[in-house]
Amino acid sequence: MTNPTRICIIGGGIIGASIAFHLSEAGCSNITIVERTNIACGASGRAGGFLAKNWRTGAEGKFSESSFLAHNELAERLKNEFSTDVLYRRLTTYNLSVDEITDKTKKSNDSTSLPKWITANVHQQEILGNEDTTAQVHPGLLTNALVKIVENRGGRVVIGKANGFLFETITTHTEKDEHHQTSPIRAVKLLIEDQDPIEADIFILTMGPWTYQAAPWFRDAMVFKENISHQLDAISGVKAHSIVFKGNQPTEPYAFFLAYQSNDGKVLDPEIYPRSNGDIYVCGFAEQQSQNLVDSGNSVPIDEKSCDHLRQIAVQISSTLKDANVEIKQACYLPQSNDGNPLIGRLYGLNNVYIATGHSCWGILNSLATGAQLTQLILKGEMSPFLKQCDPARFFRRTTTQK
Ligand SMILES: Cc1cc2nc3c(=O)[nH]c(=O)nc-3n(C[C@H](O)[C@H](O)[C@H](O)COP(=O)(O)OP(=O)(O)OC[C@H]3O[C@@H](n4cnc5c(N)ncnc54)[C@H](O)[C@@H]3O)c2cc1C
Ligand SMILES: *[C@@H]1O[C@H](CO)[C@@H](O)[C@H](O)[C@H]1NC(C)=O
Ligand SMILES: *[C@@H]1O[C@H](CO)[C@@H](O)[C@H](O)[C@H]1NC(C)=O
Ligand SMILES: *[C@@H]1O[C@H](CO)[C@@H](O)[C@H](O)[C@H]1NC(C)=O
Ligand SMILES: *[C@@H]1O[C@H](CO)[C@@H](O)[C@H](O)[C@H]1NC(C)=O
Repeated sequence: MTNPTRICIIGGGIIGASIAFHLSEAGCSNITIVERTNIACGASGRAGGFLAKNWRTGAEGKFSESSFLAHNELAERLKNEFSTDVLYRRLTTYNLSVDEITDKTKKSNDSTSLPKWITANVHQQEILGNEDTTAQVHPGLLTNALVKIVENRGGRVVIGKANGFLFETITTHTEKDEHHQTSPIRAVKLLIEDQDPIEADIFILTMGPWTYQAAPWFRDAMVFKENISHQLDAISGVKAHSIVFKGNQPTEPYAFFLAYQSNDGKVLDPEIYPRSNGDIYVCGFAEQQSQNLVDSGNSVPIDEKSCDHLRQIAVQISSTLKDANVEIKQACYLPQSNDGNPLIGRLYGLNNVYIATGHSCWGILNSLATGAQLTQLILKGEMSPFLKQCDPARFFRRTTTQK
């Protein structure tokens, strides 16, 4: 049975794509994804795509474990039902300690278990995960695959910059719910720069690190008695760089986290992921969190020095990369929340606007559980223990009458 609810999702990264996919699995077919630049132009197209089953604890641990298992299942379904390969596979994952200045006396007594293309002098190594507990997926391929399925089921992508809402006050409203689930204020239309507004029943903000830019949409609306925009202000971006060596590189199923002692005394922690298509992906160097982000995920300024440094470290780890071509040098922003937990749920103070962002360095892993559980919340009002921790209401602050 199809659900006639009109859904409008703002932001075409992995989180928006996964929510759209899960809502469509639940029978919603009228889904519009509004994306400013192009699908997966931000971190969702530039991430490593590393997945870990049991690296988190408590309620979050259960959440990411369910997401980890869902990736396995989904990758198989995409292959069998949709003939789409998202380069998913299980991995053995290592932590390697390496010094910039090679000290031969520190050589590990145990490096025989490493693949032979690891040529660095590894002085300490630790297995962080095996093929039951760690995996990888190509995040850009996955995001695009999910959006394609939604489009094939009657959904659509609108390329445009969302820049506000039209609200209305429901006059028949009765106030009873502690979460303001019966808030009298609902959004009716999403405003888009130079385009017709989009009418919908449910709106979901998945603008990743840029979600703070939506705060003024709620701050300036006369309908609000209280300032609800702190919930969006709690998001910012953390820039990081990555490079990709293209083609014909070692493809064995490993991932490497490094503890790289550089000459200036700093310990750097880049990550190296070979993919099954012969690419080698390397990322690192997270910067300070910021609310001063360039608008397009395709124009994040690239620091050549950071990319060269990533290359230099990768070549030290594997000398076979010495002559390999670095075809992609890129930077993107992690969506970071002020308390480290994502914001997933209904915006406090509004009837029909939801938010899902702030996944930091685990957005690819946690995208599937986010989509599944937000769908449960929207359609059935159910919240798992982790979703309760992610309730955006924790950032709501009552407006004091005078300042
Ligand atoms: C270097 C790096 C490596 C990473 N590696 C991993 C990893 O190995 N495993 C893992 O699980 N996670 C990883 N992550 C984290 C992961 O990439 C992110 O958590 C995830 O991609 C966030 O997805 P998102 O959909 O919330 O945001 P985004 O991908 O940023 O998507 C947001 C989208 O919203 C759009 N948008 C913004 N404003 C508007 C507007 N006004 N109107 C319309 N559209 C708008 C943007 O154009 C963008 O496409 C990594 C991140 C980085 C930076
Ligand atoms: C890798 O090992 C180093 C040194 O023991 C440690 O400081 C670092 O936290 C480890 N990294 C991971 C991802 O476990
Ligand atoms: C490697 O050396 C460490 C101490 O340096 C020791 O604890 C460990 O047992 C050794 N491992 C092997 C496989 O010999
Ligand atoms: C889907 O919703 C849009 C508004 O978001 C509306 O214009 C369109 O007619 C709807 N399509 C169907 C098939 O109901
Ligand atoms: C709402 O909060 C923001 C900070 O998040 C502040 O800049 C703004 O002035 C506040 N508006 C009102 C009306 O209090």
